[in-house]
Amino acid sequence: MAGTLITIEGLDGAGKTTLAAGLLEAARSRGADAVLLREPGGVGLSERLREVVKDPSLTVGPRAEALVYAAARAQLVDEVLRPQLAAGRWIILDRFVDSSLAYQGGGRGLGVAEIAELNRFGTGGLEPQRTLLLRIDPALGRSRQDTRGEVADRLEREGDDFFAAIACTYDAIAAAEPGRLRVVDADQSPEAVLADALAAIADLLPGGAE
Ligand code: TMP
Repeated sequence: MAGTLITIEGLDGAGKTTLAAGLLEAARSRGADAVLLREPGGVGLSERLREVVKDPSLTVGPRAEALVYAAARAQLVDEVLRPQLAAGRWIILDRFVDSSLAYQGGGRGLGVAEIAELNRFGTGGLEPQRTLLLRIDPALGRSRQDTRGEVADRLEREGDDFFAAIACTYDAIAAAEPGRLRVVDADQSPEAVLADALAAIADLLPGGAE
């Protein structure tokens, strides 16, 4: 694989979107041919599935939820990620398989191993070179979300136990894969978060470590 895939993970309200925009600018300023994508989304089918899976008026069971996210991911991998990586591009991806491991495997209690297996099928085994986990206390993430003033989607309406289980699962994944997954403290200024994130991917940036 010629290109570079960097994924960003964390609880809602951790600051992933802000970091993703900062990383995109930083990568481009170093000469990388970089694009920014998000999950679920990025291509027609996956954006439609995003609307469906977030809709609070729908009943979606845990297994159906896991399959919808995996289907959205499979299409993004086939339609964009593999071709773009083969063309040597730099991809910054806001959420990937680890979100399903944490939210569906941990949060919904379906099991990390089961969700990993489902996603290996969906992605054909594509893995990011590096994953940045924005670590935040669930209560702080939630309060940041509340101050955004947006209507809560289907998942954001879940209770504290759900988000505590997700945070716990993210920590377990990070502990199990310290090479790929780097933890960044999200309870800092956006500038400090970006600086830590850049340090965690310095070896992958064009020009190598600074
Ligand atoms: P976001 O793009 O605004 O973060 O919304 C995506 C929501 O979907 C968020 O609540 C996390 C959730 N999610 C999962 O539960 N599993 C997944 O695999 C992905 C990609 C997202």
